[in-house]
Amino acid sequence: MSIKYNETTKELHLTNHSISYILKILPDGQLGHLYYGMKLSHREDFSHLLPPLHERAYVCYPNDANKDLSYDIVKREYPEYGRSDYHEGAFSINHENGSIITDFSYDSHTIEEGKPLLVDGILPATYMDSDSEGQTLEIKMVDNVTGLELYLSYSIYESLPVITRSSKFVNTGKTTVGLQKAMSMSLDFESMDFELLQLSGAWARENHMEMSPLRHGHQSVSSSRGASSHQSNPFVALKSPSCTENSGEVYGFSLVYSGNFKADVTVNHYNQTRLIMGINDHNFSWQLKPSEVFQTPEVVMVYSDMGLNQMSQTYHHLYRERLISKTKRNIMPPVLINNWEATYFDFDEDKLLKIASTAAEIGVETFVLDDGWFENRNDDKSGLGDWNIDYNKLPNGGVKGLSDKLDAIGMKLGLWVEPESVSEISTVYQLHPEWVIQTPGRNKTLGRNQYLLDYTNPDVVDYIYNKLSKIYDGANITYVKWDMNRNITEPYSKTLQAHRQGEFMHRYILGLYSLLDKLTKKFPPEMIIESCAGGGGRFDPGMLYYAPPLAWTSDNTDAIARLQIQKGTSLCYPLRSMGCHVSMAPNHQVGRYTKLQTRIDVASFGAYGFQLDINKMNEEDVTRIKESILRYKEMRELIQFGQFHRLETESGDNMTAWMMTSKDKTIAVVGIYQALAIANPPKSIIRLQGLLPEKIYKNVLTDTQHGGDELMYRGLTFNDAGHYYVNEDALLATNQVGAGDFTSEVIILQA
Ligand code: GLA
Repeated sequence: MSIKYNETTKELHLTNHSISYILKILPDGQLGHLYYGMKLSHREDFSHLLPPLHERAYVCYPNDANKDLSYDIVKREYPEYGRSDYHEGAFSINHENGSIITDFSYDSHTIEEGKPLLVDGILPATYMDSDSEGQTLEIKMVDNVTGLELYLSYSIYESLPVITRSSKFVNTGKTTVGLQKAMSMSLDFESMDFELLQLSGAWARENHMEMSPLRHGHQSVSSSRGASSHQSNPFVALKSPSCTENSGEVYGFSLVYSGNFKADVTVNHYNQTRLIMGINDHNFSWQLKPSEVFQTPEVVMVYSDMGLNQMSQTYHHLYRERLISKTKRNIMPPVLINNWEATYFDFDEDKLLKIASTAAEIGVETFVLDDGWFENRNDDKSGLGDWNIDYNKLPNGGVKGLSDKLDAIGMKLGLWVEPESVSEISTVYQLHPEWVIQTPGRNKTLGRNQYLLDYTNPDVVDYIYNKLSKIYDGANITYVKWDMNRNITEPYSKTLQAHRQGEFMHRYILGLYSLLDKLTKKFPPEMIIESCAGGGGRFDPGMLYYAPPLAWTSDNTDAIARLQIQKGTSLCYPLRSMGCHVSMAPNHQVGRYTKLQTRIDVASFGAYGFQLDINKMNEEDVTRIKESILRYKEMRELIQFGQFHRLETESGDNMTAWMMTSKDKTIAVVGIYQALAIANPPKSIIRLQGLLPEKIYKNVLTDTQHGGDELMYRGLTFNDAGHYYVNEDALLATNQVGAGDFTSEVIILQA
């Protein structure tokens, strides 16, 4: 059994083969936190793990008779502000009389097999296939003054170092209360001996890893843009300062949500650390009427004592197998070509078919028609919202005509949409200007010349559902690219009363999820949805759940820039979820010229595709692309479902190396990349991971043989160019690491 309860000591111990999480119902009914980390053997009494309890100066005690229990000192499960705990609380409630104090104390708990759905049925969450995969603890807390109930939910997976947490408020009282803050979880640690690891960035440079030591006070990672955002991903980790890719402790926290979020870390005056995570409370409020329920999104907590790689591998496994739905989790994404960087808005059917047919000949499987296929869309200034096919560009039967022609050459059709946006120059805007997100009497801010539709309004969601249904019913479309190219401004909805406007941002996301839910149920199960928000502006587990199995990682397709983006993204998300395309050189975002082989070697570690016109390439490059598709197809299952390892390199950021091993560890593919060439480089050895030490592996390209132990403990010698510069032709012909800037090498190993 994974969850043990001791009635005498009032302790709950969630444990499996690798982790322990222990909490205690304190004498006054508060929930104290005792421990989270590496598995501890079960004992009947862990109460000695409470911090030393004795009276301290300048500390307030809610119960004066019991000077042992100050909330300022004790570690807590789901703390409130205002009753002697002065730190960031996990929730905040305004009562009818204007007061802010709520005193939830333990009422009861249940332990059940498996993992139930979140109560509102629409928030995405991880799941268990069967009840034997784990257990769920739900603790009921009650505020006796108002009758408000709080349910804290913890699910533990039997075979993974994973605990998921969420909370639920139920108003069983007689008056409406105002939730001002309702975090999914809070966790107190005994020390501040951590670094905060976050994924930060901007458009075209998403998910860069950033680390900072903890200090007293707050450190926050958040979004208030209405989307999880390019700027901050809803993932953070607390790692011990000595933690590396392959050793040391790290605690990961990932919020399964696509809107405003916050992860706040506070270090208090006793050097204790508190991490809270959930919906951003900035401008948030929620009116909870009698008998209503508010469910928070879920946080997935992963513990690793073997460094960042083990944490990532756990997230990858869980999100691949138990976040993406059962019907979609085995989908194999096609090798695709997307026309965006090949044509932008300048295309007609003829041009598209030329790109598609050359691509089909060399093995590409799906053609994704990007922005510009609908009326009034020759640039980004107009056309969004009507979703009427442009028969000038597609004169022979529109999208259906195109899909028929693609079918004939053995290629499937994917179609881009941006269903949350609307242009001023569109019929829907003229007919329903009130459908746009705006604040009465205020300027409406444009972003990429467009507004966003008010998805809190069910009429809007119905309109889009009907429009999209018509398009997708009308043609043989197997792939949807769901884009969103701006963030919310002037948040307000006419459908909400004045005192409910603080609900807007969360209701927007609920509207989006409900639409995606309805559409995915309508689409055939094999339909692939690629989510996108100007690249990785909404790359989060919530979208992965509703738009599986992948997201467009970044609008930046430059291979060298992508190394950092893909590496950062891999901290929490499986390679399978990252759309990665080969584009033209010089690259359209950074102007860099990178050899084709490097672009291939970077993009093939993900969901592989192209954004270029193959007709414009020379024969040698076309052959190279054809070979890369063949190689990718051979490796596709490995890349999609294998185990990913970020490898440690000696030359820091200048060199990136990673590898994928098959489930049985008998096949591996290693990618090594160097940004800038180094003359007479010191060493060209990289230690591999995840192989079978007793097996002999053949390097498929060189035919050399190496022990798995040798490759992992001594390392693989790769071909750095070093002294190779015999003549210019030889140099141009090779892509060996170091033979010029931006080089790469992919090595395939077979046991
Ligand atoms: C966004 C996407 C791109 C492309 C364009 C089309 O920027 O990220 O991939 O689809 O929109 O307008």
